[in-house]
Amino acid sequence: MRSLLAILSVTWLATAQTPPAKSDGQYAGGIFSIPLSDVPKYAAKTKMGRATEAKSGGAKTSGSGPYPAKGAMDTSIPNHTVYAPIAKPNITMPIIVWDNGGCGTDPTQFGNFLTEVASHGYVISAVGKAGGLGRQSKVQDNRDSIEWALKGSAAKYGEVDTTKLIAAGQSCGGLSAYSTSYHDPRVKLLMLFNVGIFDDAKRYLIKEIKTPIGYFLGGVTDFGAPGAEKDYVELPAGVPAWKGNLDTGHGGTYSATNGGKMGIAAVDFLQWQMRGDANSKAKMLDPKTAGSLVSQNWKVEFKNWT
Ligand SMILES: *[C@@H]1O[C@H](CO)[C@@H](O)[C@H](O)[C@H]1NC(C)=O
Ligand SMILES: *[C@@H]1O[C@H](CO)[C@@H](O)[C@H](O)[C@H]1NC(C)=O
Repeated sequence: MRSLLAILSVTWLATAQTPPAKSDGQYAGGIFSIPLSDVPKYAAKTKMGRATEAKSGGAKTSGSGPYPAKGAMDTSIPNHTVYAPIAKPNITMPIIVWDNGGCGTDPTQFGNFLTEVASHGYVISAVGKAGGLGRQSKVQDNRDSIEWALKGSAAKYGEVDTTKLIAAGQSCGGLSAYSTSYHDPRVKLLMLFNVGIFDDAKRYLIKEIKTPIGYFLGGVTDFGAPGAEKDYVELPAGVPAWKGNLDTGHGGTYSATNGGKMGIAAVDFLQWQMRGDANSKAKMLDPKTAGSLVSQNWKVEFKNWT
């Protein structure tokens, strides 16, 4: 009897919530996303107000890291902009696949932030180009970046480690990162900025996320944060997750000089995850460490990391 019930309940679950085979979905951002026309509905549920840490419009630099970087088009990966160190660095670089807010196709609005990350020794293939492509991004654009890196094309920027592959993005671009990692073990780390699943009816998909993840959120005035709070709780048991909120609202600090505090947090997370940097790890996890994220006004929670 008990086993019959178990079979029935498994069957019911499978019928009610069969995850799709492909992650491309109907909308930009893939199966984890929503139509753009639904955004106001979620924005209206969120407290609006001035975010004390919001920053924009900073100077353009080549990043604060040891390997001055820039973004440029690269004919070997059409429809993308590659942010990478200007000179080949003396370290092996992970690869980041980046998708933009609104699943837009002009990554230059994130240029300060992406240049900052690249200056620490990362190759980033961002969807789109200055001025945009006249369309939204597709999950396939991110897969194109992955395949470009895996076939060795990123090597012109220096030594790369294609086993260290990160999918990242802001807002719709973060949902696109979820969709990019979906059932794709090539992706080793996820970084979602100002976003989680909006539509509660799609939250069952979080059970398909097996990749360690960082959520970088903008606090109570960030309309992308409530979904991420729920995702964080619902992740499958054992998935390592870090979640921080800084009072920036949905817009973050990406266009501030060197990407502002979002830039600092992203670099520490990456240096910890990809290079095992003990100081960066302590800044992410230990509020008592000098320069910890908590001391920079982040509200931090994490699980399955020690
Ligand atoms: C690697 O290059 C950076 C930046 O030029 C430099 O600071 C560092 O000392 C170099 N490391 C080694 C081991 O050569
Ligand atoms: C680049 O994007 C444009 C605009 O959507 C599209 O027509 C073209 O096929 C894309 N090129 C590649 C190589 O994907």
